[in-house]
Amino acid sequence: MLALGQLVTKPKVFATKPLFPSVCAVLNRHIDAEYWNESERITRDELLRRVARMEGLICLPTDRIDAELLDAAPKLRLVATVSVGYDHVDLETCTKRGVVVTNTPGVLTDTTADLAWGLLTALARRIVEGDAWTRSGTWNGLAFDTFLGCDIWGKTLGIIGFGRIGREMARRALGFKMRVLYFSQNRAPEEIEKELGAEFATFDRVLRESDFVSLHVPLTRGTRHLIGEDAFSQMKATSYLINTTRGPVVDEAALVHALETDKIAGAALDVYEQEPKVHPGLLSRRDVVLAPHIGSATIETRTKMAQVAADNVVAFFTGQTAPNALNARPQ
Ligand code: DGY
Repeated sequence: MLALGQLVTKPKVFATKPLFPSVCAVLNRHIDAEYWNESERITRDELLRRVARMEGLICLPTDRIDAELLDAAPKLRLVATVSVGYDHVDLETCTKRGVVVTNTPGVLTDTTADLAWGLLTALARRIVEGDAWTRSGTWNGLAFDTFLGCDIWGKTLGIIGFGRIGREMARRALGFKMRVLYFSQNRAPEEIEKELGAEFATFDRVLRESDFVSLHVPLTRGTRHLIGEDAFSQMKATSYLINTTRGPVVDEAALVHALETDKIAGAALDVYEQEPKVHPGLLSRRDVVLAPHIGSATIETRTKMAQVAADNVVAFFTGQTAPNALNARPQ
């Protein structure tokens, strides 16, 4: 005779990364999980093969979730991305096919704002260039007129996109005595503007008046190449661009042209149009700081992101509403 536990088959879920042991332990109690344990990223073909029998998929922004993948996974009911951004997921098609999609908002807000602030500082104060020179052995001591950067404090920070991360950028600017202008689809409540000392402005005015322009909009059809030739022609020649959201929000070819023609003074990027490729015109420039998509990459935050994804998976497969569902549970 079978024990009751043996009669209950756990839902099969595939994760394209092993996540963290504590998170796997929670998942393993509720689901029959398979993890991609190789150090190399899973190939597309392998992913399509592995999802064939799965009811759930835990994925990363590097995994494209589209009609082809859904065709290969006829039993799939849940896609839990371990990221706040979900532009790699075809949400419309998932919804049509009754697949619930969840993400991990909230837990990476401060960490990403910290990185954006770090990039801004590195760029303005030429920290990466200075590091290379110090290591090169050619530095011959303090000099009055070398590595002159530009002040951050007292300048104008322009924030494009005033959601969670954009607002945390504004909070950091308070400590640097900066003027903050922001543009967003929806104006923030008055008390938030007051608390953060941020002034709502048109997109064009933010570009025209800011010394630093930091991007915090999600990638959508409407924001693809939001910052292109036209935007660069409005920015000050002394201004800097910081992008920690998604690469395609910036037209990279137009950015290279803007730098080459001194339309702006520099750029700091954590994200690229065709990751992991970086536009060759950026690689040799000293007025550019490049990071490898590490906005949320701290032990604490990545652990929380994995936990939130696991909470979504467990809630869904135990019949509750997944806390971060981006589309409705199918009827
Ligand atoms: C996100 O969460 O969208 C980040 O870009 C990936 O860490």
